[in-house]
Amino acid sequence: MRQKILEILKKSTDYVSGEYLGETLGVSRTSIWKAIKQLRQEGYDIQAVSNRGYYLSQNKELYNAQEIEDGLGTKWLGKQVYFYKEIDSTNACIRRLAAEGAPEGTLAVAEAQSAGRGRRGKEWTSQEGVGIWMSLLLRPDISPNQTPLLTLLTGLAVCKAIQKTTDLPVKIKWPNDILIDGKKICGILTEMDGEMTRVNYVVVGIGINVNTEYFPEELGTIATSLKIENKGVTISRKKLIQAILMELEGYYERYVKERDFAYFYKEYKSACVTIGQEVYTLGKEALEGKAIDINPQGELMVQKADGSIVTIFSGEVSIRPKKKG
Ligand code: BTN
Repeated sequence: MRQKILEILKKSTDYVSGEYLGETLGVSRTSIWKAIKQLRQEGYDIQAVSNRGYYLSQNKELYNAQEIEDGLGTKWLGKQVYFYKEIDSTNACIRRLAAEGAPEGTLAVAEAQSAGRGRRGKEWTSQEGVGIWMSLLLRPDISPNQTPLLTLLTGLAVCKAIQKTTDLPVKIKWPNDILIDGKKICGILTEMDGEMTRVNYVVVGIGINVNTEYFPEELGTIATSLKIENKGVTISRKKLIQAILMELEGYYERYVKERDFAYFYKEYKSACVTIGQEVYTLGKEALEGKAIDINPQGELMVQKADGSIVTIFSGEVSIRPKKKG
């Protein structure tokens, strides 16, 4: 009933009488009043005026499980939403839910994370109220060495969803950082649980700086937010989540069916900013060269100074800033 009342109030541009709501839903006006009280407690701004009824002010967008589920056009992805005011990490949360047998497509979203994790054990700053911090549970029937491709596909889905909802010039830095003008707005952390030859489940964690207005000094030169890039205009987090889920469901279904990245790689390539840039990797197998292409397997092809070409399957690749002048 709570849901139906909300739907009616959202559609109406004027007051809706308690009598009308009661008759439409076949319940007493007292029940309607109780449901309205509950909605108000959840944060909905509902005005009540005697002889006129109820009016929902839609100036403030709420961000909760119900709002994300409402109007979500997917078939199965994100149909079960767990929403938290604060949690350690949504990736850790999905792992716990997966261990309890949660179905594929389960989504965990948090307003804030106290222990948000980035790649390579780094901390991921997850301030309250301004970002999308979310993780999805996937149970693909693929082999473990195919899971890095899911990361590429997620990057592509996020990139497309942001393009469609904001028109901002977002690009992918291989494998899956999303950048605007060289500054990071989204990071993706994919984790797998399985054995040598079998994937048990995959957690896809997505962190997006959506409405962040200020970054600490150490991040300001490398990170930005959609709001900063959108001339200070606030972006709807729920609509962006819905758009990401729509894009990702389509890509994922296609990928699991085809089991081949070749189908996507042209689209991925055209969104990828790494090609043509001088790049380097650090660590044991450090290398340096020019990123010349991405192959149909989703690997980055790097040409070294001696002319030889190396393909990189997964990992961290940095782009060397262009020399000025
Ligand atoms: C990166 O290092 O670029 C990846 C960052 C991934 C952050 C997201 S936020 C939601 C999910 N939960 C986490 O703890 N991390 C991921």
